[in-house]
Amino acid sequence: MSKTVVISGASSGIGFATAEYLDSLGYNVIGLSRKYPRNEYSFKYFLCDITKETQIEKFVDFLNKEIESVDVLVNCAGMGVSGAIEYSTEEELRKIFDVNVFGQFLLTKNLIPLLRKSSDAKIINIGSVAGELIIPFQTFYSMTKAAMHAFSEGLRNELKPFNIQVTSVLPGDIKTDFTKNREMPKVLEDDLYKDRIKKSLARMAKDEETGMPALSVSKVILKLIRKKRLPVAKTVGFQYKLFIFLQKTFPKSFVNWIIKKMYG
Ligand SMILES: NC(=O)c1ccc[n+]([C@@H]2O[C@H](COP(=O)([O-])OP(=O)(O)OC[C@H]3O[C@@H](n4cnc5c(N)ncnc54)[C@H](OP(=O)(O)O)[C@@H]3O)[C@@H](O)[C@H]2O)c1
Repeated sequence: MSKTVVISGASSGIGFATAEYLDSLGYNVIGLSRKYPRNEYSFKYFLCDITKETQIEKFVDFLNKEIESVDVLVNCAGMGVSGAIEYSTEEELRKIFDVNVFGQFLLTKNLIPLLRKSSDAKIINIGSVAGELIIPFQTFYSMTKAAMHAFSEGLRNELKPFNIQVTSVLPGDIKTDFTKNREMPKVLEDDLYKDRIKKSLARMAKDEETGMPALSVSKVILKLIRKKRLPVAKTVGFQYKLFIFLQKTFPKSFVNWIIKKMYG
């Protein structure tokens, strides 16, 4: 029997590419997000806002009628905000945490009972290199991804006795709608910050628009689904693996200085 894979954030980008890819390989894919995909799709779909537990409960009711167990959960839904901390609002911080952290927690928590019924269960959390290398003017985003890496590591040990493996996938820059969907700051240029915010965002957007295709992440996800023992985390792309290696090897002040040169 084919494995059941639930993917959040399946309407576009990495989630959509992964859902289509796994579906084409014979997996029983169930995608979810708030809107239907704009492109044609062949996998099962459920409309669900992961920040609303009542909607997640309806999704679980649907799953209980459709399937016996969930083999893989890919937590891919996410959003970005940008701007200087000084000009950002509490509301913006709460909004991004609501999707990138609280939503992931709610979906994961509610699916654990169905994952426990699988003989080879896996949770694959889509983190980011930006959760390890903290990017200025994207600080709220980096905060959420750093939180998700911690969530993933803690959950990994909590679920080990139930035979549910947990890992994080850390993509670098990927060409998706993420750049277009990122919430833009109200202040891009002023006398204090000059054009630093604008330049930083332009660099980030350019890196993403010339980044790797979403399918490169989907292929890593497939390898992880097929793998017997999951690593704690898997970075996608040679350049980003090198960044993470440097981050772990060199003094923090040096790495922070490089990031300031690139994005500060
Ligand atoms: N693109 C990159 O360079 C990059 C790099 C590293 C990590 N990532 C991570 O990869 C993941 C996917 O991003 P992407 O690049 O594929 O961007 P994307 O195309 O903007 O996809 C984001 C997905 O999240 C869904 N989503 C947002 N809020 C939601 C909510 N409240 N409930 C349910 N679904 C929600 C969106 O669907 P709806 O709007 O239909 O709800 C969409 O399907 C994110 O976690 C992102 O942080 C991206």
